[in-house]
Order: sequence, then structure tokens, then C-alpha cells
Amino acid sequence: MSTNLLQGKKGIIFGALNTESIAWKVAERAHEEGAEFILTNAPVALRMGELKELAEATGSDIVPADVTSMEDLENLFNKAQEKFGKIDFILHSIGMSINVRKGIDYENSNYDFYNKAMDISAISFHKVMKVAKEKDIMNEWGSILALSFIAAQLAIPGYNDMSDAKSLLESIGRTFGYYYGTDKKVRVNTISQSPTKTTAGGGISGFNSLYNYAEANSALGNAPALDCANHCIVMFSDLTKYVTMQNLFHDGGFSSTGVTTKVMEHFMKD
Ligand SMILES: NC(=O)c1ccc[n+]([C@@H]2O[C@H](COP(=O)([O-])OP(=O)(O)OC[C@H]3O[C@@H](n4cnc5c(N)ncnc54)[C@H](O)[C@@H]3O)[C@@H](O)[C@H]2O)c1
Repeated sequence: MSTNLLQGKKGIIFGALNTESIAWKVAERAHEEGAEFILTNAPVALRMGELKELAEATGSDIVPADVTSMEDLENLFNKAQEKFGKIDFILHSIGMSINVRKGIDYENSNYDFYNKAMDISAISFHKVMKVAKEKDIMNEWGSILALSFIAAQLAIPGYNDMSDAKSLLESIGRTFGYYYGTDKKVRVNTISQSPTKTTAGGGISGFNSLYNYAEANSALGNAPALDCANHCIVMFSDLTKYVTMQNLFHDGGFSSTGVTTKVMEHFMKD
């Protein structure tokens, strides 16, 4: 269903890898709502070739960028400026931890991998906004989003160093959002999404148990990726102009629930 909520808006979408990716769904929905955008991902991810389908379906250009590289980001934003002049939205939908991938537990984190996880999954959000702000590419009331997870607030075994990355990501959103709002009237938020079956999600040890637990321990159940995309669309629209520096939970109520009767019943003894 389209209501042309993003008609005339231009943007950059980071992180669509395959049809399961949250960013893929955001791109499809943004296209349906009338937006134009550049799709970007790490050169290594682009070699898989799937992004071309999305680019064709949405009439978008693909510009490769490793989000940790200032040079790549400069090139990406120059291309966006050449194509669009100014833009209205940016989605940062990126997460990667080698400790998680290799199944190295939190207490024994390899610190080179740990630093890499912070750089790719959190500090990159700062880099993206620094380049965007220096180039003055965002229109006033523009909207920048990154995707987070409740492990930023609650200890969740198996999420490992990504918990720290998400805490840092949310803090960067809040703090950079202060400066971007004050100087340029650009808003910055993070959306904390339910466990979602994607490539990144599936890399977490015990993901299926976590998924099932969150499903049972939330009033509405886990929020699907498409609904996360819809939330992003509203946040990119002019209907949310004064929302900034927030971490917005999109999780069916999980973050505000102590325990549901469904979970309690599981522990009932006669
Ligand atoms: N899947 C979940 O359960 C879940 C829950 C809450 C939040 N999130 C967050 O949503 C976001 C998107 O993840 P997803 O679940 O759609 O998985 P995904 O695997 O489809 O997306 C992750 C993306 O990060 C990209 N990436 C990794 N390293 C990069 C680099 N150096 N430069 C540029 N891009 C790089 C990957 O290529 C991929 O496109 C992530 O921030 C993730 O942490 C996911």
C-alpha cells in the first residue's frame, strides 16, 4: 500500500545484502512511497551480485563503500551530491562482529575483532554523519536512522561484543543528533528492532531460542522486517519532524515487559 509519503525525497540506503535484509525491505518500501535513493554496501558484499536485482527494481544506482573507510564514504557522498544535490534520508543498516561469527564468547573476546566490530557496527555511524555534515548534503528536517537491538540495554548471552557496539551506536545517534539538530535541523534516531531472521541475525549463537523467547515475551510478538521497514518510512517522512536523538523500540512491547503469562506458564509446577 503506497501513500506517496516519501514523494520527492532522496536518500542513501546502506546494508541491503539479500531479500531477507531489513535494508532491502526499506528500499522496496521507500521506492513504493516515491523516494529515490542510492544503494550501497561493502565491495565484498556486492560481489554476491544480489543487490543488482534490487537496484533494477527500484531504479537505483549502486555505489560500493566499506563503511569504515572515509575515502569510500567521501566518494559515496560525492556521487550522491552529483546525482541528487541534497538528500533527505540515510539508513545505516550495518552490523558485523568477527567474535560472533567465530563463536568466541564475550569474556574471551579477541580485541582486534572487538575493535573491528565497534568500527563497522557503531563508529561507522559517526563517520557517515561526519561526511554528510561536512558536505552539507542533508536538507533541513532530513532524517538519519540506524538499526539497533535491545542488547544495548539488557544482557543477552550470545550477542557478545555486538551488545557493546549497539550501546555505542545508540549513544552516537543521541550525541551526533544533538549537534546535527542544533546546527542543521537534521534529526537522528536509532530503531531497536526485534530479533529478525536475516543473515546477520542468524549469525548470533542461540538465535532461534532468542527469537522464540522474544516472541513469547512480548505483547504483540516479534516485529517482522517489513514492519520495521514501515517504521523507517514514517521516520523518514515529514510526519515525524520533531522526533530526534531517540532510541525507538520496535519490538512488540518486549523492552517494556517483565514477563508474559505465556513465559510464566512454561515454569509452572503443580
Ligand atoms: N536481524 C536481527 O535480529 C536484528 C535485530 C535488531 C537489529 N538488527 C540490525 O539491523 C541491521 C541490519 O541487519 P540485518 O539483520 O538486515 O542483516 P544483514 O546481514 O542483511 O545486513 C547487515 C549488512 O551489513 C553490511 N556490512 C557488513 N560489513 C560492512 C562494511 N564494512 N561496510 C558496509 N556494509 C557492511 C552487510 O554487507 C549487510 O548488508 C544491523 O545493524 C543489525 O544489527 C538486526
